[in-house]
Formats: sequence, structure tokens, C-alpha cells
Amino acid sequence: MRPIKHLFGIADLDREQIEYLVNLGDSFIDINRRSLKKAPTLRGKTIINLFFENSTRTRTSFELAGKRLSGDVINISASTSATTKGETLLDTGQTLAAMQPHVLVIRHSLAGTCEFLAEYLDNTAIVNAGDGAHEHPTQILTDLLTLKQVWGSPEGKVITIVGDIAHSRVARSHLLAAKKLGYTMRVVAPKTLLPSQIERYGCEVFHDFDAALPGSDAVYMLRIQTERLTDSCAFPSVREYHEAYGLNARRLRSAGPDCIVMHPGPMNRGVEIATDVADSAKSHILSQVEHGVAVRMAVLTTLCGGTGEEA
Ligand code: NCD
Repeated sequence: MRPIKHLFGIADLDREQIEYLVNLGDSFIDINRRSLKKAPTLRGKTIINLFFENSTRTRTSFELAGKRLSGDVINISASTSATTKGETLLDTGQTLAAMQPHVLVIRHSLAGTCEFLAEYLDNTAIVNAGDGAHEHPTQILTDLLTLKQVWGSPEGKVITIVGDIAHSRVARSHLLAAKKLGYTMRVVAPKTLLPSQIERYGCEVFHDFDAALPGSDAVYMLRIQTERLTDSCAFPSVREYHEAYGLNARRLRSAGPDCIVMHPGPMNRGVEIATDVADSAKSHILSQVEHGVAVRMAVLTTLCGGTGEEA
């Protein structure tokens, strides 16, 4: 397998690397379920989480992943970093790299932040924990681990992703993964929430949610990324949005009995997803969260040069 030095996006990974990380993540699930949640895999390794955007799941799961594998983990958020005192992103990156961490996990609102910093930081592996509307590779690896548990393989399946496709790094990374792993993505959104030339990803495009549901193996709901909306007219009212693009029990039934529900979180109940659907037996939303820790264990282990065998 081609070595994985940094994790910038799904775009840089080939199928073998994606499957390797998902399978390694699978082998870590068990540690998180034990009463003694500790393995020596990352002993002596330092991981810095540098978050310039808010996060519950991603930041916590990177922290737990590092700590449960015995790494030393430091968390820095934008509000407590010296960027609030006028320091540039590059200076912050170089300052942290001078302290010799093995891995820097970065979330930032600007697309390409990780690639930019990697040019200047020599001995530090960089993980993209979400860069603007660009990519969110560890979320997709998390989802693929969830799908592996349910289906074995996503190959040949149809995943219908619904909502603010235009501003979603999760949607973009999934579209890239689908091509590499051989599953079909149907994207559903009003025209105002679809990026131009979306068809070049090889996906099926729908504006009518009901038309996209029959034949879907999974329905993947997205939050409206209000923090990235520049056009306040991008969608009508919350009520109208829910009517047209919200997942409710009636819609889920029309997708067929085996269709599962996914969401990367955070959910907006009553907007993109009805409460009874979010809490139903078909919802895998909390398994996605659980698998997020295991997959981030796999990513940190790999970037620190390990194989996970010690665990
Ligand atoms: C997503 C993100 O940050 O891109 N959340 C996550 O990491 N689980 C999706 C979102 O914020 O809507």
C-alpha cells in the first residue's frame, strides 16, 4: 500500500488506503467498549488538536482516540489561541510544530488549510478535521466503518444525501469516496443549495426528495450550514424546507424496509430530520459517533507509523 503521510482528503486516498483505514478502525471498536479503555499504541506520541471552528463529535473523538491509545493529546481552540492576538495561521502552525508533535489535527473554515500548512511544517503529520466546504475525510471513513458493520461493503449500494450539498464538506468527500469504492450517490437539494457542475462527480441529481427515495439503501441527511450561507434567500422558511426536504416517517417508508438513516451531526430536529426518524431503529446516527472514535484511532496510529498490532 502507498504510505499515508498526511490525511488531507478522500481525494488523495486510493481504494486500498481507504479500506485499510476502515478495517483498522474496525479492529479498534472493541477497545472503546471495554471497561479498561487503554492500549499502548501511541505511547510517546504527541497529538495536537487545533480547532478554529466549533465541534463536538470530531474534536472529542480525536481526543479520546489519542488518549485511549496512550498518546499525549493537547486541544487548542481558536478562541483560546494567539490568533485572537493577531498571529497568523502560519505562525501558529510553525509555533506548534516547533514543539515537535507527531500529529497536528486541524479544523478551519478555509479550504486547503492543511495542504498550505504542510508545505511549511516538515516533521508533523497533518490531519484534516474539516476545512471549509472542502473535505472532511475522517467523517467519511467513520461512515464507511458504519456501513461495513451493516452491509459488509458499500459496493453497488445507493446512498441518497439530502440538504445543503453546496456548503457540505461531508457531501463532497462522500462523492469522491463513492467513485473510488463503487457506490452510487444520489444528491437531493433545492437548486440554491447545489454546487454548480455537481454532475461531474458522477452522481444522480434530484430536486424532488420523494422521487429519489425508492431504491435508496441509505438516506444521509445534512444540516443547513448556516455559518457558510452568504445568500439569505438560499431556502424559504424552516417549515417549508422541512416539508420539501425533511426526512419524516412517511418518506422513510417509501424508501423500502431495509433503508437506513445516517447524519454526521449536529442534527437540527424538525428541520432536516423529524424526531421520530432520528430516534428510530433505522437510525445509525449514534453508531456513526461511536465508530468515529475507532476510525480516528486508526488514522492517528497510521500517521504515527504504527500498524495497530500492539493494541
Ligand atoms: C460536520 C462538519 O463539521 O462538517 N459535522 C461533523 O464533523 N460531524 C457536519 C456539520 O457541521 O453539519
